[in-house]
Amino acid sequence: SFEVKLASSGRTIRVAADATVTSALAAEGILVPTSCEQGVCGTCLTRVLEGEPDHRDMYLTPQEQSANDQFLPCCSRSKSACLVLDL
Ligand code: FES
Repeated sequence: SFEVKLASSGRTIRVAADATVTSALAAEGILVPTSCEQGVCGTCLTRVLEGEPDHRDMYLTPQEQSANDQFLPCCSRSKSACLVLDL
């Protein structure tokens, strides 16, 4: 598991191995808009301020993925212990 930290509030939310980032956020009342939930449409695109995402989507280009400044939280995870999100 890993944690996501919300830059606006400083809240930290743990993402269990069997949960998505969007489902972990929704369980805490933080709703990120989603559509496909499979990393295809880009609807859930979220800015990453710190940390290294584990990109699992098919939406971002390899260059965009390697910049590590955005990710698709419906399917992607984290290589870092904590990801700071622009939420
Ligand atoms: Fe479609 Fe996340 S909801 S990419």
